[in-house]
Amino acid sequence: MPTKPPPLILTPPPASSTAPSARSAPVFSGSHKLEARPFELPTALVPNTRLQMDGVAFLSLLPDDAILVAFFDPQYRGVLDKLGYGNEGKTHGRRRFALRQMTDGVIRTFLAGLDRVLIPSGHVFLWVDKFHLCQGVRDWLEGTKLEIVVLVTWDKGIFGMGYRTRRRAEYCLVLQKRPRRAKGVWRAHTPADVVREPAAGKRGHPHAKPVDLQGELMAAVSHEGDYVIDPAAGSFSVLDAAISRARTFLGCDPEG
Ligand SMILES: C[S@@+](CC[C@H](N)C(=O)[O-])C[C@H]1O[C@@H](n2cnc3c(N)ncnc32)[C@H](O)[C@@H]1O
Repeated sequence: MPTKPPPLILTPPPASSTAPSARSAPVFSGSHKLEARPFELPTALVPNTRLQMDGVAFLSLLPDDAILVAFFDPQYRGVLDKLGYGNEGKTHGRRRFALRQMTDGVIRTFLAGLDRVLIPSGHVFLWVDKFHLCQGVRDWLEGTKLEIVVLVTWDKGIFGMGYRTRRRAEYCLVLQKRPRRAKGVWRAHTPADVVREPAAGKRGHPHAKPVDLQGELMAAVSHEGDYVIDPAAGSFSVLDAAISRARTFLGCDPEG
């Protein structure tokens, strides 16, 4: 049974630390050491595979305060329900409409589950579109310890839908479970806050996200071997990103 180095406990460096002086220390220096404690993985959760199951059930199998990094790309209906337009059931919209949709209540349940399984100062990379970015996602986060710490814009390099302007970007809101920290937790000052990576049309999923960007994000906040989870994995782009960065993927989608 695979066990892993999980939860992080932030430990300040000893007084005798050889850390550079405050004047010369880089902003992102690891002035705190992150340590994980192992936990036993339930047999139903097989690492680095495309598990076919419900994401809320998946999260319920994970212990509290156990996971360092999660990705969540909800199958939301906000723009369709609230603006009352879209091309449901037609062309590109047909594939999207065929996927299991998430109400705001379901999304809140996912985020509550992610909040529970995440270690203190762990991160959730939450994908949103322009509609949710502008309307705000505070309702989704209510009652959790998750706070927005940064925003990364993905320039897909291709034009999508839109009546007035054609959408070319999607947004990754970076959430951190309290306590909010950067030093020693966010260990790289790449990526940039706008990243261009061609949309992976060949993945066969209407919402596939960029593998390299996700790999870069997970690498900034985790170490090799750490678990990276995605409870609504779609085309399993996070699985590919995790493998490319020597992380251990755990995730699922009802479509498998
Ligand atoms: C926006 S897509 C994710 C795309 C993914 N990030 C990628 O890069 O391919 C959302 C996914 O959530 C899945 N989904 C919907 N309801 C779910 C549930 N209850 N549990 C897990 N996944 C669910 C859908 O099947 C869909 O594939």
